Amino acid sequence: MPSEKKTIPKRTAEASGSTEPRPANPPRLAIAIMAAGKGTRLKSKRPKVLHEIGGKPLLEHVIRAAIHVVPASNIFAIIGHEAEKVRGAVQHTGVGFVLQAEQRGTGHAVMCARDVLRDFDHVLVLSGDVPLIRPETIRQLLEFHLQQKASMTILTATPEDPSGYGRVIRKSSKGADVTAIVEQKALSKSQAKTREINSGIYAFATRDLWQHIDRITTNNAHGEFYLTDMASLLVKAKKKVVALAAAEAIEVLGANTLAEMVMLDSSMRLQKCAELMSAGVTIFRPETCVIDAEVQIGPDTVIDPFVQILGKTRIGEDCRIRSFSVIKDSEISDGVMIKPGCIFDEAKVSRGAIIGPYSHLRPGSDIGENAHVGNFVETKKTRLGKGSKANHLTYLGDAEIGEGVNVGAGTITCNYDGVNKHLTRIEDGVFVGSDSTLVAPVTLGKGSYVAAASCITDDVPADSLALGRSKQVVKDGWAKAKREARAAGKK
Ligand code: UD1
Ligand code: CA
Repeated sequence: MPSEKKTIPKRTAEASGSTEPRPANPPRLAIAIMAAGKGTRLKSKRPKVLHEIGGKPLLEHVIRAAIHVVPASNIFAIIGHEAEKVRGAVQHTGVGFVLQAEQRGTGHAVMCARDVLRDFDHVLVLSGDVPLIRPETIRQLLEFHLQQKASMTILTATPEDPSGYGRVIRKSSKGADVTAIVEQKALSKSQAKTREINSGIYAFATRDLWQHIDRITTNNAHGEFYLTDMASLLVKAKKKVVALAAAEAIEVLGANTLAEMVMLDSSMRLQKCAELMSAGVTIFRPETCVIDAEVQIGPDTVIDPFVQILGKTRIGEDCRIRSFSVIKDSEISDGVMIKPGCIFDEAKVSRGAIIGPYSHLRPGSDIGENAHVGNFVETKKTRLGKGSKANHLTYLGDAEIGEGVNVGAGTITCNYDGVNKHLTRIEDGVFVGSDSTLVAPVTLGKGSYVAAASCITDDVPADSLALGRSKQVVKDGWAKAKREARAAGKK
């Protein structure tokens, strides 16, 4: 089949299927992900591939895309700089690892993976710092590679600003055949006009790769083994090297600097907001909201500007989330109102509840149906029953609170004795007066009353009143006498 310049169709389009029949024995495929580099340009202690966008490390995004194309057992992350940290962060994905103890360049990284890749017919090489790559694009690269019977296929793009990237030099502007990849620093004047960049994502026929990889030299600006040199080496050996252009440049942009990192992060999050909006969620000023990839939100929920919804949070239908709330790993049912400035962490809120403004729901908070948690209230490991209220300036920790309870302003559960935590139980229908301290372990029986400003150290029986404060003393005329004495010049 003659080479032709090809472009991957836009998102949602079907893969460019070959009309040729599939071979009886499908080729054995592996994916290697280069992730051993330090990321010098980030000026950061953290290895580059563990920097996060969309709430997940760069490398995890690449692994997730790869897992859609081949099983995790055929994927190998090449790690080196802070190898154990990197391995620890992504080993839950089930991929294999290869150690590149010394980072001597991208070509050297692939050399280190020779043993694990030996039994595969083709290997896709991905970069751990190119995180927006989609499985569809990887598949299209692979199909084009197989269809072209190429030794090496390079995924390319033509971004507005190609500076910093290697450029792909095609034999002719119309064909897919490539003569070389030239790194930025080595570009001649005429080559510098080429805007088509190397994405750092390739498919190789493994036999040709291993036959020629040892011919890569370190004769370049960085004294490293460049994987990009494989293009001209294979061409010299009369092998076929082709390029396939990705439909959208953003998908193959690398994160080499923190500025590039936050650009990719905001692009990913805007995409998430767009998906949610197309599923019926209103997000005002989406460019100010931070919503992680795995978050789920039901239709008719409205999100105001400057909201963060993180981790595995699930939010139901018909909720309203006001500005400056940060909600992480929480479960929120339908029809919940979250007023401004709330912080949720591993909390659960049942339908119709009203939270905030400025409530802090810490892990183990479980707020019942139609309950209210208000201004400057903090909860931790606390169940607040149906219709119960804690509206002002309160701390509820390690508490079991029944239905229809009113917790007065300034109430505090004293749950910690300096060594252990203890439980406060407040049964259905209890009224706790303002400014009460409940010293745990303690139980307030069903329907009981606690007088305001009480310090409750003993259990309160059902339906009774507990007063835990000193009796008020009134001294008649005391203030008047004091004023008159002062006016007369006495102390
Ligand atoms: C590389 C390409 C460049 C391309 C760009 C696309 C080379 C020589 N250049 O440049 O043509 O336009 O990617 O993003 O390949 N890595 C290792 N071991 C090493 C060195 C790097 O595993 O010894 C890993 C890095 O962790 C990174 C990836 O390989 O994930 C790419 O390395 P990086 O240094 O970022 O290459 P670029 O300069 O971006
Ligand atoms: Ca890079």
